[in-house]
Amino acid sequence: MADDLSLIPPPGARADWTIDQGWERYSQAEHDVWITLYERQAKLLTGRACDPFLKGLDALDLHRAGIPDFSRINEELTRLTGWSVVAVPGLVPDAVFFDHLANRRFPAGQFIRRADQLDYLQEPDVFHDVFGHVPMLTDPTFADYMAAYGQGGLRALGLGQLHNLARLYWYTVEFGLLQTPAGLRIYGAGIVSSRAESIFALDDPSPNRLGFDLERVMRTPYRIDDFQQVYFVIPSLQALLDSTLADFGALYPRLEGQTDIPIDAITPSDKVFTRGTQAYAREQGAHAS
Ligand code: PHE
Ligand code: FE
Repeated sequence: MADDLSLIPPPGARADWTIDQGWERYSQAEHDVWITLYERQAKLLTGRACDPFLKGLDALDLHRAGIPDFSRINEELTRLTGWSVVAVPGLVPDAVFFDHLANRRFPAGQFIRRADQLDYLQEPDVFHDVFGHVPMLTDPTFADYMAAYGQGGLRALGLGQLHNLARLYWYTVEFGLLQTPAGLRIYGAGIVSSRAESIFALDDPSPNRLGFDLERVMRTPYRIDDFQQVYFVIPSLQALLDSTLADFGALYPRLEGQTDIPIDAITPSDKVFTRGTQAYAREQGAHAS
C-alpha cells in the first residue's frame, strides 16, 4: 500500500494499475531465484505454517519450474474461492489496492528480487506476494476476510480512518499467528516469505505473543524495519472473520479517544501466550543508538 496522492498509473499500466505478467519474459536466472526461495521456505514451513497455507501451496502447485504463471494458478484459485492474482508494477495506491481486494483480485508485484537480495527487499516482489499471500486465498474463510478487508479499506479511506485498519492488516494478513492443537502456526505472509522471521516469530523468546483482540490490535503500532516485537494469535480463521465483520463505524470514533499501547506492552486484559524478553529489540536498539 503506497500513499501516492496521484491515482494515475505509471506508463504502460492500465487504469486499474494492472500490467501483463509477461511470464515468458522471465529469465532462467529469475526462475532460479524463485526456486531457491521456494525450496528454502517449503522445507522450513512444514510444522511452522498453518495447514490452510500448506494445503494452498500444494493446491496451486507453486513450485513447478520457477515463477508461477498467474494464468495457470488463477484457474485453480478462481475455482476454489473466486479469487485471482493480477500483476502490478509495484506498490499501488490504497484506493486501488482495496478496490482489487474487494473484487477478489490480489495485486502481486511482477518482478522478482535479485539473487544477492534473497533476505531483504524494500518493495514486495512476486515471491512475497504470491508465495506469501496467495496460498491463504485458497481457504474460503480467509478469502472472505480479505475481500471484506478490501471493502472495509475503501470505507475507512473515506472516513479518514486508514491508520487503524492498516494495523489490523499488519498484525493479521502480514504477521498473524494461529492457535492450533499442535501449537502456534504461522498464517501471515510477511512471516512465511521470510526465512529468518519464520523462525523468530515462533521460536525466539524475545517477542510477546498475545491473543488477538480487534480493538487492542488497532491501538498497537508496528515495526516495518525489523522483526515484530509482538505477534497476535487468532483462535481460528473463522474467529478472525467473525470479529471483523461487525460494522467498524462506531469503533473508529471510540479509538480516537484512546492512546496507543506501547509496542512491547502487555495489558491486564491480554491473553498471554508468550511473555517476551524483548532482548532482541533491546539489542538492536543498543546498536542503533
Ligand atoms: N467490518 C469492517 C467495517 O465495517 C470491514 C472489515 C472487514 C475490515 C474485515 C477488515 C476486515 O468497516
Ligand atoms: Fe504483503
